[in-house]
Amino acid sequence: MASGCADETGPTEGTSWRLIGPAAGLSEKRCRLMRSSLGRGSDVCLFYVKGEFFAMDARCAHSGGPLCEGDIEEADGVLRVFCPWHYYDFDLRTGKSGTSLQQKVHEVKLEDGNVYVKHASCLSLQPVDEKS
Ligand code: FES
Repeated sequence: MASGCADETGPTEGTSWRLIGPAAGLSEKRCRLMRSSLGRGSDVCLFYVKGEFFAMDARCAHSGGPLCEGDIEEADGVLRVFCPWHYYDFDLRTGKSGTSLQQKVHEVKLEDGNVYVKHASCLSLQPVDEKS
């Protein structure tokens, strides 16, 4: 699948749109972990919820919990992911939490059936886990 580096033709450094892959395939899972070339601390979750993609840093702003494994709930029209470690919540769109924490979110766009995420590094998808 795509490297997340604009098909190898775009910049590999600096914030830019990173091609992730075809939306049709990416929408088959609720969350995918994308590895950052900057290291684990910059990995990103790509969520697909209610027909929309959202991207946010994969490690919880509290103590680094795996947000891709968190439950997602909707309340008052706001979609939130709940960190599986201490159950802090983060708005998928803004990254704001009911606590004072702020999770970093990244812009997502769809173009010609492909998903792009704006990020400072190359992003590569984890191998697809057929069981989930
Ligand atoms: Fe996520 Fe504590 S690590 S709530």
